Formats: sequence, C-alpha cells, structure tokens
Amino acid sequence: MLVTSANRTAEILQKIETRQARIGIIGMGYVGLPLALLFSEARFRVTGFDIDPRKVETLNRGASYIVRVPGTEIELARESGFSATGDYAQIAAMDVVIICVPTPLNEYHEPDLSYVTGTVKSIASHVRDGQLVILESTTYPGTTEEIVVPLLEQGNSTGLRVARDASSAGFLVAFSPEREDPGNDTVARRDIPKVVGGCGPIARDLASAVYKTIFNRTVPVSSPAVAEMTKLLENIYRCVNIALVNELKQLCMRMDIDLFEVIDAAKTKPFGFQAFYPGPGLGGHCIPIDPFYLSWKAKEFDFRTRFIELAGEINAGMPYFVVDNIIEAMSQQGKALRGSRILVLGLAYKRDIDDLRESPSLTIIELLQKRGAQVEYNDPFFPTVGQGRKYALNMTSTPLTKIPEFDCIVIVTDHSQYNYRSIVATAKLVVDTRNATRNIEAANIVRC
Ligand SMILES: NC(=O)c1ccc[n+]([C@@H]2O[C@H](COP(=O)([O-])OP(=O)(O)OC[C@H]3O[C@@H](n4cnc5c(N)ncnc54)[C@H](O)[C@@H]3O)[C@@H](O)[C@H]2O)c1
Repeated sequence: MLVTSANRTAEILQKIETRQARIGIIGMGYVGLPLALLFSEARFRVTGFDIDPRKVETLNRGASYIVRVPGTEIELARESGFSATGDYAQIAAMDVVIICVPTPLNEYHEPDLSYVTGTVKSIASHVRDGQLVILESTTYPGTTEEIVVPLLEQGNSTGLRVARDASSAGFLVAFSPEREDPGNDTVARRDIPKVVGGCGPIARDLASAVYKTIFNRTVPVSSPAVAEMTKLLENIYRCVNIALVNELKQLCMRMDIDLFEVIDAAKTKPFGFQAFYPGPGLGGHCIPIDPFYLSWKAKEFDFRTRFIELAGEINAGMPYFVVDNIIEAMSQQGKALRGSRILVLGLAYKRDIDDLRESPSLTIIELLQKRGAQVEYNDPFFPTVGQGRKYALNMTSTPLTKIPEFDCIVIVTDHSQYNYRSIVATAKLVVDTRNATRNIEAANIVRC
C-alpha cells in the first residue's frame, strides 16, 4: 500500500509538472474565473463549473461578464481547452478540483455555508482516489476538517476516505485562501504568495505544487485551520484599522483637523505604521463579512471577539454618519432633506470596480429615501441596477450633465474617471466622503 500511494503521489506530481493534470474550478465568479484563466495561461486544460446557466453559456461563447476580465482572455482560454459546465459528473475527470463559491452571512449575521455544503454534497459522489480537492472560499477555522471532509466521505458511496499520509489511499483535501484585491494593479497576481494548508503533508505538498505553476511563491502551513485563520487575520486587521481611522475622522472633524493630512504625514514613518483611510463604510464580499465568521465560531469556545464587534459597530455606523452630514450641509444652505433631489456618485463598493456587494452606497441611498429624499445615482460601471439579495433599486444611471438639477451631490465612490473639478463647478453642494476633492478649494464642498 505504501508503495502504491507513493507512486500515486509521484504520478499526480508528474501530471502537474507536464500540464497533463486537468483542473476543475467550481464557482466562476470574481475569484474562480480569473483563477481558471491563470491555470489556462499556464497551459492546463481547465473546466469551469457553475450553477448559473447564463455564466456557463457566456463563457462557452468566449465572452465575459466581469469588467476587468476582457472577453479576449476567455477566447484565448477557450483555444487552450477551457470550457464551462453545470454538469458535476465531469468532476470525475478532473485531477484537481478548486472550490470558489460564495460564503456570505445570513440575516442574523451568521456564516451561511450553504454554497459550500451544497457544492461539496454535489461533488461527493464523483470524487475519486488520488483526486485533490481544495477549498478557496473564505471561512472560519475548522470548516475544511469539520464540514468539507465529512461531507465528502459521507457522500462517497464507494467508501473512499481522505488520504492523510503516504500509507493511505483516498482523495486529498486542502484549504488555500484567495488574496485578491480587486482593482489593485500594483501587485501582479503571480506575486501574491499563496498560503496552503492540507489535511496531511501530501495534500499540502500537492496543493503547493499545483499553485506553484501560477504563483511565484507558496506558503505551506501546518493545517487547513491555520490557512483559514490566516485569511481571517488579514481581513480582520483591515477591518479593525479602517474602523480606527473612521472613528478618528469623526473626532478630527470636531477638532477641525484634516485626518487625511495626518495620515499622509504619519505614513512617512519608515516602520511600524501602515496607512488606512476612512470612508463611508465597508463594502465588498470580504471585509464587512469575514470577521463575523470568526466571531461566530469563537462563541463555540465561549469567547467574545471584542475588537471585531467594536470595529463592526463603528464601520456599520458610517453610512448613518454620512447621512447626518448631508442633512447638516443642506440645512446650512437652508434646505431640508425631505423632498430634495440627491445624486449619489458611485454604487460600486470601491473605486474603479464593477462590484456592488455590501456597498455603503446602497445603505446611504436607502437611508436617504427613508428620510424623504428623491435619490438618483451615477456609476459608469452600472448603467442600470435592479434587484439584489438585500436591495431593490431598479434605477438607471443619471448622466452627469444633470448635476445642476440636484440639491446635493454625494461622492460615495471615487471612481477615477470622474472629473471632480467639473462636478464641483456645476453642483450646488458636494458632500465628499472619500476626499476625492482634496485639491479643489470651493465653498460648496463639505468633506465628511
Ligand atoms: N471577490 C473577492 O475579491 C474575494 C477576495 C478574496 C476571497 N474571496 C472569497 O472567495 C469566495 C468566492 O467569492 P466571489 O467573489 O468569487 O463570489 P461570486 O459570487 O463572484 O462567485 C461565486 C460563483 O459561484 C457560483 N456558485 C454558487 N454555488 C455554486 C455551486 N453549488 N456550484 C457551482 N457554482 C456555484 C455562483 O453562481 C457564482 O458564479 C468567497 O468565499 C469570498 O469570500 C473573494
């Protein structure tokens, strides 16, 4: 048995090195699709799995549905054998299966692992001996060992088990967190080190070998739980530091100190300081959500993660703070919010991306509407916006030429294609939550 399994490991390694290994990626979203393209560029034959038939159809005709992924890249991948499918039976033909499905929170702010469990249950009957399954979805420490492995073992009618060492047969399981920073082009994807934790050293080393074909460096750690916790530490670090500057912004406004100037000065310190910037609230699939995966899990250990809760409270309060500032700025001009026309600039949760998940703009629009304002939006990345899990806007982007018609323009997302000088010059009032107007002196700007 020892020899057989060692041979099998060597065989998989050779398949990876010679690019004969077939790679299946489940979840063709913001994480899974770019990952599929990276493997395809590295000359692997890649299959993308998704339950959304529109995504499958779009990819199979060589087109894209994500702004920063050009259709030409899909076409190129198609020429190298990339295809998409919703048919899980094809999992059996894969050597490596990487799961990149969503991990949101439910209405009670608790982890919603239904996408992960749904996926794992669906693939369990197709998983085979020697196959490597890697979870990339962000989640709490313990998910891979406590949820993924048992579901794979229970759903496998052949009685196949996870192989934890060279002496056992079975499939291999690892966790490797995604570290992408959407819209950040300063670091090439290849240069972002990839953390890998395996259920046993063979799974860890094989997963490392797979990722080394597309990343310059992998960081093997001792267990999936360490890899899961690493991702959460990174995001909690951001969440807590953003909360700190969001709180300091509120204090600095009272003290008439420009916090952005303070941060710029502080970041000249060559050690021990990293700059974080205040804003209208957290957005995206990661920072507002991931910390709560840990605080939920901590309760099992009778532990309260007070930093996370405090940071969550401060960050969640920021859209309310922005709305209070809009009301105050309008009242300074002798206007009431009720009945006034407000144009929100930017729906995306951050600059230059086409993702509005958890965007503070959605909360700000809702709060303004509840207070009787007539709200419209402009966003070059969203010509129209319909209905999501947590919002129902059903609106069309208002052209910037209509700015003079509005009582107040609120900059929530500082897209780089906006001409801020022209916006300020034509607006009655600008409330700037991003310091986008920092180089413009005008009486109609209120920064908050
Ligand atoms: N977007 C980011 O910047 C980012 C960064 C780091 C980590 N992550 C993490 O990566 C994971 C994926 O995030 P994302 O942004 O790519 O999500 P996404 O919503 O963009 O994509 C997920 C895809 O999975 C598909 N899907 C859902 N259930 C499925 C199933 N059972 N089988 C097949 N496909 C299924 C959906 O149709 C969708 O296309 C999450 O855990 C997220 O926290 C995201």
